[in-house]
Amino acid sequence: TTIACIFDLDGVLVDTAVYHYQAWKKLANSLGFDFSHAQNEQLKGVNRMRSLDKILDWGGIVKSQEEKEELAALKNTWYVDMISRMSASEVLPGSLELLQDLHDRDIKIALGSASKNSGLILERTNLTHFFDAIVDGNAVTTSKPDPEVFVKGAELLNAAAEDCIVFEDASAGIEAAIAAHMAVVGVGEAANLPGADLFIKDLTGVTVQQLIDLVAKKKG
Ligand code: BG6
Ligand code: MG
Repeated sequence: TTIACIFDLDGVLVDTAVYHYQAWKKLANSLGFDFSHAQNEQLKGVNRMRSLDKILDWGGIVKSQEEKEELAALKNTWYVDMISRMSASEVLPGSLELLQDLHDRDIKIALGSASKNSGLILERTNLTHFFDAIVDGNAVTTSKPDPEVFVKGAELLNAAAEDCIVFEDASAGIEAAIAAHMAVVGVGEAANLPGADLFIKDLTGVTVQQLIDLVAKKKG
């Protein structure tokens, strides 16, 4: 069986949620309300503008489209400031080993992320060279749970959807993978990841054989 792997970035390969949280909290505070960790959880996998819409909603604030563009840009300058200082030490457990293992076996690897900052994050954490294709928030017109990001990734890898495995930490991403007719591994708390074919806490100990078996089993 040939397989291809498509990885979400934030929350799967690197832990950037803490930086998103700090930047969104600073923005919310500047608008006169607070922003909780629980709310930050709900923004996983959600693109920048939709995240801002939710936050303004929680704060009970209405802004024009122009003001929203400015607020999103402001949050992003703070966020970029933080991720510019990231290092390889912030790669999540097991990621490096799995990427290396896949690479050594000539299994194609794509990125499928909602972030428009994926290039910077991959560079700072030394992960860029693993990827045969990168599809991120700059390359899609519709966001997860729409399958576009994963469909494009598979296309660029020249892989059939049924041979692809998606790694996701967000329910919107799991939905997107299912809609793309791909196998999906849920990374994190199983309760937050309904519909995944396999649940893992992090990428530690995941074997290539396990992934090949998962695709074979799913094909039936
Ligand atoms: C996703 C994150 O990967 O990217 C979301 O889980 C984030 O929290 C989204 O909002 C967009 O990121 P960025 O870097 O384009 O603002
Ligand atoms: Mg994610």
